[in-house]
Amino acid sequence: MLKNIIAPSILSADFSKLGQEIRDVEKAGADWIHVDVMDGHFVPNITIGPAVIRSIRPVTRLTLDVHLMIKNPGKFVESFVKAGSDIITFHSEIEEDPKEVIKLIKYYNKKAGISIKPGTDIEPIEKILPMVDMVLVMTVEPGFSGQGFISDCLPKIERLRKIFKKDIEVDGGINLERSRDCMKSGANVLVAGSFVFGAKDYSAAIKELRGGV
Ligand code: DX5
Ligand code: ZN
Repeated sequence: MLKNIIAPSILSADFSKLGQEIRDVEKAGADWIHVDVMDGHFVPNITIGPAVIRSIRPVTRLTLDVHLMIKNPGKFVESFVKAGSDIITFHSEIEEDPKEVIKLIKYYNKKAGISIKPGTDIEPIEKILPMVDMVLVMTVEPGFSGQGFISDCLPKIERLRKIFKKDIEVDGGINLERSRDCMKSGANVLVAGSFVFGAKDYSAAIKELRGGV
């Protein structure tokens, strides 16, 4: 039985007090910390890199779930590993051979995830599914937090769940209602940016996502 995991995305945190924000969501019951890395090439936005991950590593014992939205992930795997990442997820829509990137992540004994954008089907990643620990199904176009959930992604999650027994993560536009839809479709890892960090009470928001348990 897969564990349900709540992973607040620090992209919606207050960066002027990032350490405290991370301690607060950890105390509020978060399971993982989701870190969105954007390079301004793969997506039209720039966020953070290994230096920030290195700084937050000693702040929390939680898994650092690093989502690379960058053009040449293979080139940066080593830096992200050394900075303290636990899970490294990259996008299938890159020019490099995903198998080589997965092998590199595995060489460092880290968990590897592959992500698909809303417009990408499961078929292109089917062959590499046995190599990965997680599939991240984007439920918005990658690039920004606070966007609306794309419900066309739900049938894709259902189809994926039938053939993939490990972690399925959803990311983008997750709120209370959408979290239910995604879990019903078979996702077990919920990333939430604005829903958690935009809430007055982080603990209540995380409990709500988990299903009031
Ligand atoms: C978008 C990022 C998401 C984003 C989620 O490209 O991958 O992790 O921060 O934010 P919300 O939950 O606000 O859509
Ligand atoms: Zn993300």
